[in-house]
Amino acid sequence: MSEKHSLATKLVHSGRSKRVTQGSVNPVIQRASSLVFDTLADKKQATINRAKGGLFYGRRGTLTHFALQELMCELEGGAGCYLYPCGAAAVTNSILSFVAQGDHILMTGAAYEPTQDFCNVILRKMGVSTTYYDPMCGEKIAELMQPETKVVFLEAPSSLTMEVPDIPAIVRAVRAVNPDVVIMIDNTWGGGLLFKALEHGIDISIQAGTKYLVGHSDLMIGTAVCNARCWDQLREHSYLMGQMVDADTAYSTARSIRSLGVRLKQHEESSIKVAQWLVQQPEVKAVYHPALPSCPGHSNFKRDFTGSSGLFSFELTQKLTQQQLENFMDHFELFSMAYSWGGFESLILYNQPEDIARIRPAIERKLTGTLIRLHIGFENADELIADLKAGFERLK
Ligand SMILES: Cc1ncc(COP(=O)(O)O)c(C=O)c1O
Repeated sequence: MSEKHSLATKLVHSGRSKRVTQGSVNPVIQRASSLVFDTLADKKQATINRAKGGLFYGRRGTLTHFALQELMCELEGGAGCYLYPCGAAAVTNSILSFVAQGDHILMTGAAYEPTQDFCNVILRKMGVSTTYYDPMCGEKIAELMQPETKVVFLEAPSSLTMEVPDIPAIVRAVRAVNPDVVIMIDNTWGGGLLFKALEHGIDISIQAGTKYLVGHSDLMIGTAVCNARCWDQLREHSYLMGQMVDADTAYSTARSIRSLGVRLKQHEESSIKVAQWLVQQPEVKAVYHPALPSCPGHSNFKRDFTGSSGLFSFELTQKLTQQQLENFMDHFELFSMAYSWGGFESLILYNQPEDIARIRPAIERKLTGTLIRLHIGFENADELIADLKAGFERLK
């Protein structure tokens, strides 16, 4: 696809060359471990092309994987896209590809909790140290850089607490100290569409494709779209670590991405409607939706993002007791409790202020009320509001 085309057009037309569709609208599902060669010359050529989109061996991908990889590169503007069995694998293998014993990484102190656990358990065991930074630190991140710092990892907005960092300031400050550091971002919240990470000087844009790319809460996949500078190393190291996803999941992910643009628009419209209603409720202390001024980093969001998705949080004026929590959480008609998100359905989860303090030791901002995280799906927004209203009634 040419650069002149918009995202909406790329979502429809990318990753659909004749080679991968074989004449149908969607790519073929090519399931293969072995790919067979007729002659020694064919085998030799396949070996030469194995990292350049040639068919070689199942773990290097088939036409189905190539179609999804090409689609992701078009959408996020990358030189390559590696596919992983889930988002956590995309995060951990991206980091592992660029660190060795004795190295140091800077990790946002408001990352998705298992990302922090990976640093605390696996990286520590390998002799790689982690410093957590406050995502609102901006250019002060430079003070935390060490000669051994190899990776700076961002997530925007933060998981649960939703801070939107000043990404351009962080990237500028890191590059000023050491231009070779690999900067990566967990870019899951906006499906890779709402924040153009690589255009902001980030090297690797990681997604738990499990969420918006798949969009139907039924598959797991991870993606890492990478610039030319880091692509060879990310690809070869991830390959050596045995990372792969099956062809059927790759097919279904590409199929879902065709509707990603329209899905995100509906998530945005309904989530803002629900968030604006929440702002007016006496039980609510603050709403942390990036599109609302009460979200930390709202001005960064307005400057750097093109829209919002369906995931946000709000803080209650009080910390709920166990009985109140049960009254509130156990009786929703439309909201279900689940850890994943990004599907067509609405979800709700809670965290107490001490839970947040425990997983955010590096962050100044402290919460006092119970934090509720919502994912707003495609139900009628007024009916979702009525469901939440009934929940607040149960607190009285
Ligand atoms: C921001 C973020 N990153 C990564 C992940 C991990 O994704 P997966 O469950 O596909 O491993 C999640 C899952 O909830 C997430 O919310």
